[in-house]
Order: sequence, then C-alpha cells, then structure tokens
Amino acid sequence: MNKESFRLISPGGTETELPVHSGTVGPDVVDIGSLYKSQGVFTYDPGFVATGSCVSDITYIDGEQGILMYRGYPVEQLAANSSFIEVSYLLLYGELPTADELQKFDHTIRTHTMLNEGMLNFFKGFRYDAHPMAMLSAVVGSMSAYYHDTLDSSDPVHRDIFSHRILAKLPTIAAAAFKLNSGQPFIYPRNDLTYSENLLQMLFAVPAEPYEIDPIAAEALDLLFILHADHEQNCSTSTVRMAGSSGANPYSAIAAGISALWGPAHGGANEAVLKMLEEIGDTSQIDKYVAKAKDKNDPFRLMGFGHRVYKNFDPRATIIRDMAHKVLEKLGRADTPMFDLALELEQFALQDDYFIEKKLYPNVDFYSGIIYRALGIPTSMFTVMFAIGRSVGWTAHWREMIADPNGRISRPRQLYTGSPARDYVAIEKR
Ligand code: SDX
Repeated sequence: MNKESFRLISPGGTETELPVHSGTVGPDVVDIGSLYKSQGVFTYDPGFVATGSCVSDITYIDGEQGILMYRGYPVEQLAANSSFIEVSYLLLYGELPTADELQKFDHTIRTHTMLNEGMLNFFKGFRYDAHPMAMLSAVVGSMSAYYHDTLDSSDPVHRDIFSHRILAKLPTIAAAAFKLNSGQPFIYPRNDLTYSENLLQMLFAVPAEPYEIDPIAAEALDLLFILHADHEQNCSTSTVRMAGSSGANPYSAIAAGISALWGPAHGGANEAVLKMLEEIGDTSQIDKYVAKAKDKNDPFRLMGFGHRVYKNFDPRATIIRDMAHKVLEKLGRADTPMFDLALELEQFALQDDYFIEKKLYPNVDFYSGIIYRALGIPTSMFTVMFAIGRSVGWTAHWREMIADPNGRISRPRQLYTGSPARDYVAIEKR
C-alpha cells in the first residue's frame, strides 16, 4: 500500500520522488529502485542495518518492544500452547492447522525421517572429530544429488516434498554426525515418536540397551525448536534467499544457510557462550571479562549479548532462561554453577553503563547452550540444534521468495575504492 513519497533533491538540484510503502505493522520503507537511474548514485548500508530486502508475511520483530510474531502469533503464546511441528506447519503454510491437517502433516514428517541409505556412507568419509556443522552442511548439500527428481521449484508439489524432506531429515543427519563423533553406531529414526523424542533417541540410544526418553528433555527441545524456528531476514535466512534467488536448487540454498549460521556472530554464538563461560570459570572473573568486552582494543565480545534488532530484550532469551532453570531443577542437574555464573553475568552486564548505553541484552544464544548441556548434548552440537529449529524458517522464506512473481536474482552494488584504470606491466619491468 503506497503512502506519500520522499522527495530527494541532489546537490545539483535534480529531484527524485521515492515512493513509500507501508506494511501491516512496523516501519514504512522507501522504495529506492529508481534512484540510480534518476540520480546516478547507489545507497550505501554495510551489513544492511537499515535496508529492507524483500516483502514478507512470515515473521515480524519489533526490536524496541521485544516483539517476535510468527504469522502474527506472538512467540510467547506459541511457546506456551503449540508444538514445533504445529509451528512448522504455521510457518510453511501461513495458518494454524486444523486437527486433521496437523495429523496429516505430522504423519508426513514422521514418515520421511529416514535418509537414502547411500547418504550414510558420507559419514564413513569424515574424520571422527569432524565438526558436526561441517558434516551437516556437506550432507544437506548432497541431498540435491539424491533427490534431483523433485527439484522443479516452479512445481508446488516439488516445493512441498522438498520442505517436508528438509524438516524431517535434518534431525537424522544431525544425529548421524553426533554418532560419528561419539564413535557409536548410527541409530535409525522411529515413526512412533514425536519430532523431539525421535531426535533424542537417535542421539543417545545405543543398540546395547533400551533407551528411555525423558519427557522433560523432549519438552525442552521442542520449545527450543519453536523459539529458533524463524527470525525475519537474519544473516542465514538472507543467505538462503540470496542463494535461492539465482535458481539454485533448494537443498543447496539451505546448505548455504547452514554455513552462514555457523559463524560465532550468528548461530555459532551458543557454542561460543559455553566456551566463554568455561573460560570465565567463576563469578570472581566476571569483572575482568566484562572489562575485556568493553575494551575497543580487545577483540573479545561477551558472546550471547547484543543483537542487530533487539535493543531492549530478546523475548526468546527470557523464555529460555526460565526454561533453563526448570530443566536444571527437574533433571536434578548438579552442574548449576554454569547457570549461576550465566545469571550473575547477565545481572552484572545489565547494570553496566557500557551495556546499557550500547543496548546489549542477552540474546537467544545466551541460555540455550546451558539447556543443551544439561540434556547431555556436547557444545559442538549446539549450532546444529539451532539449525534444526531454523530449518523450517529457512524453508518458509525460500518458498516465499521462489513464489514471488516479482522475484529476481539478488545482486547488490558497491562503492569502489580500488585502483583507477592502469595498464598491464610486463613482468621484467615490475
Ligand atoms: C543470533 O539476526 C538475527 O536475528 C540473529 C538471531 C537469529 O535468531 O537469527 O537472533 C541469532 O545470531 C543472535 C546473536 C548471537 N551473536 C552473539 O551473541 C555474538 C555477540 N554479539 C555481537 O557480535 C553483536 O552484538 C551482534 C553480531 C549480535 C550484533 O552486531 P551489530 O548489530 O552489527 O552491532 P555492532 O557489532 O555494530 O555493535 C554495536 C556496538 C559496537 O560498539 P561501537 O563500535 O558502537 O563502539 O556494541 C558493541 C560493538 O563493539 N557490541 C558488543 C557486543 N555486541 C555489540 N560489545 C561487547 N560484547 C558484545 N557482545
């Protein structure tokens, strides 16, 4: 819906009218599509801090109010009332499912969890200590080699089959990577279990004895997947959209998103938070490390703090912190010192002028690792868990991008600061 426009007048007096578009809620956008043609200039916004890359109906974030909504439903309500499979349906199809729709969708996902048997051979080729994120991105990228019969992105049926395969198979691939690292045999998925129960048994069951699923662990995982499911145009989601915009097959686009998520500034932060807490050791060291985080000459940052959008609080961090407390209590885990240290660090930082001025609050990654650790999941698998939850968000955004009738390849421009034109110099004259 167009509102008034912005009128831009260049230093030379050339006037350009830039249309303004409004969404359902949130900031309007100024359409700069005609700027280069009319003014011969590009806009410049490194890191896309203030740049809208697309129109989307999927997720809305308000960084000042700490609001996160999936298809209009506040994440707090979904966390309290829904399941990851139901939230996945909502993100993919735009509406909460009826009981019948949910049953059919759940059955579809449960019956697509197995991998092509040939894919298991990949894991024989990795080093025993390969990082599970490296294995995840490699094996997901290989899915296009197995499922090339359904790669016609213009076919809604193919888009659905791809969506179901990614959601259903990521836990199986993740668990296979974990089993390689553990030196244990791969455990096949079971169709009689829920999404999170199935992941737990693929991670922790061994052929030598029956495995009993802890309902608290399954509940905690399901909630973490809901909270990680989507987050607007974050780095990895934008990567999936960009890769998909060239027409690359969707499995390769998701593999690109996995690689982007791995970075410690993004989804790799949950692994970095636990390493940071282990390095800090105990509350007596908090002062020293907060001072390091504030020192411009020190590259150290307080991992799990700060966010590009949330400048007040990350609603997910609040929910996860409360759940971490509940899980540790219910599991009767004695290793609460890590949790106590995290709580102390959070309180310290929230009262520090630097963090208040920079609006740095705990983000989704600050407490999630403490829960994964309490469930027996190793630090190296934390970002893999993030990827499992986020896979449905990536898929929903890929579907929205590929179905956009005005869609085109993403291709930003630049400010060139390199050498002016110069002639080649023969090597004997250099
Ligand atoms: C996720 O985009 C998403 O939605 C991401 C995510 C999702 O669901 O997809 O929410 C998941 O990635 C959460 C973020 C996890 N990353 C971390 O916890 C790593 C630590 N955080 C920082 O690297 C940083 O806060 C970012 C990357 C999260 C945000 O970076 P920005 O928006 O580019 O902010 P910035 O780096 O420009 O920082 C602004 C200022 C800087 O100081 P000045 O240059 O203004 O003097 O704040 C400082 C930074 O030095 N700062 C920090 C800090 N984070 C920012 N100082 C110390 N410790 C920190 N953690």
